[in-house]
Amino acid sequence: MKQAESHILVIFGASGDLTKRKLIPALMELEKQDLLPDDFAVLGVSRTELSDDDFRERMMEFLSEKDNKELLKKFLDRLHYQAISTGESYDYPVLRDRLFTIAKEKGIPENFIFYLSTPPSLYEIIPQNLASVELNSSTDGFRRLIVEKPFGTDLESAKVLNKNLLNYFAEDQIYRIDHYLGKESVQNLLVTRFSNGIFEPIWNHNFIHHVEITSAESLGVENRGGYYDHSGAMRDMVQNHLLQLVGMVAMEPPVVVEADAIRNEVLKVFQSLRPIKEKEVEKHVIRGQYIESHVKGKLVKGYRQEEGVDPESRTETFMAMKFFIDNWRWAGVPFYIRTGKKLPTRVTEVVIHFKKTPHHLFGSEHESEQQANQLVIRIQPDEGILLKFGMKVPGAGFRVQTVNMDFHYDDLADVRLPSAYERLLLDCMQGDATLYSRGDAVEKAWEYVQPIMNAWENNKDIPVYGYPAGTWGPDVADQLVKGSQWRYPCKNLSNDGTYCEL
Ligand code: BG6
Repeated sequence: MKQAESHILVIFGASGDLTKRKLIPALMELEKQDLLPDDFAVLGVSRTELSDDDFRERMMEFLSEKDNKELLKKFLDRLHYQAISTGESYDYPVLRDRLFTIAKEKGIPENFIFYLSTPPSLYEIIPQNLASVELNSSTDGFRRLIVEKPFGTDLESAKVLNKNLLNYFAEDQIYRIDHYLGKESVQNLLVTRFSNGIFEPIWNHNFIHHVEITSAESLGVENRGGYYDHSGAMRDMVQNHLLQLVGMVAMEPPVVVEADAIRNEVLKVFQSLRPIKEKEVEKHVIRGQYIESHVKGKLVKGYRQEEGVDPESRTETFMAMKFFIDNWRWAGVPFYIRTGKKLPTRVTEVVIHFKKTPHHLFGSEHESEQQANQLVIRIQPDEGILLKFGMKVPGAGFRVQTVNMDFHYDDLADVRLPSAYERLLLDCMQGDATLYSRGDAVEKAWEYVQPIMNAWENNKDIPVYGYPAGTWGPDVADQLVKGSQWRYPCKNLSNDGTYCEL
């Protein structure tokens, strides 16, 4: 593994939620694993007036390692804070001076990573302001920029954002975070496919009947109603996280495991997505919105009653779609995506449904339909892999029953799954952009979903189906997968069938 070079990580939006809940705990974990460079500091930046000590105290609340006093002190000593008006260029000389002072005091070379954990409205202004004090130029040390999603809200705004970022930073300095790619189990998709001789030969239209990707959440929009109502499941989950998953499932083997080689293959998948025309949207895409219901005996509000949500909102909290990848490998294989809030459980998984045997030797054709093999790649929770195959029921005759062969990450003793942010932060520190989205792929993904969003916007006759909170979405989503059915996953990977914990 490459060693991360010494640097200062500047977090814009340091008083926000992401910083305390995800970034600081991830950095602390890297500290614990001894993966941070010796000479390393964090400079939190936001508008709120705080001293270094105030900032440290605030962050400490979110650290779990409070008992290890020595480690805690080492980590907290690395944290610094600078209040500036991030939107105003006149404050950037202050930021620059502070950065160089910390670098000098701590003997850190002029390597800087700028993490934009701010509202997207600042994504154009901050890079411009950094450039105004030459904090964008990598001549005296590296300068990298990490940007959180959303990367635009439609194709047009995504193009504008990319163009603006590229005015001040080069593509190889820009790290667009899609935290799904930081998940261990998502990376394992590549290892499953490309390190095993048995899967890749059958990973194509000759053997695969269809592919299903589900990302269900039991939570609703919580306190993010205001944001979500302008976003919806398409912008929030599908355009980014789930299409990236499709990229991993469908891509060709990369020439090498390197950023551009892998990202080229993902881009090719996006280029091969068969466009869904506006007039076909109703047939291929279902949208839904949760309505009030009782879940486990408790009354749960509907989406339109959530704070910050328009009482007449038509924003989708659920969507399911059917699509095709028009290339040699996937010709004719339907892909299905389903995602939603307030579904029965939190689970993300990819299910590869293999074709049935060509001839039905045992039982009726109907029975053998249930026996088509499935490979379930569980992204979360209970990360692992499950293969479903037919076994003879002991005794007379040839009765076939589907059984499970499963691997759970939990079974690996002493192995802890790093959080997505740990992995991604460390990668950026090491200058490895493999698990970050590239600008061209982000635009391609927007290009693909744009006609669907247009149809929803322009054609009010396309229904938004209500579904009771706590259910698997509107029933009509079942019609998309004609001839088969969605898998209804449980909390635990292999506990399906008669017993299912949600
Ligand atoms: C975020 C979305 O990007 O991903 C959230 O904005 C969603 O709405 C979250 O809940 C899901 O991430 P995870 O890691 O919990 O599956």
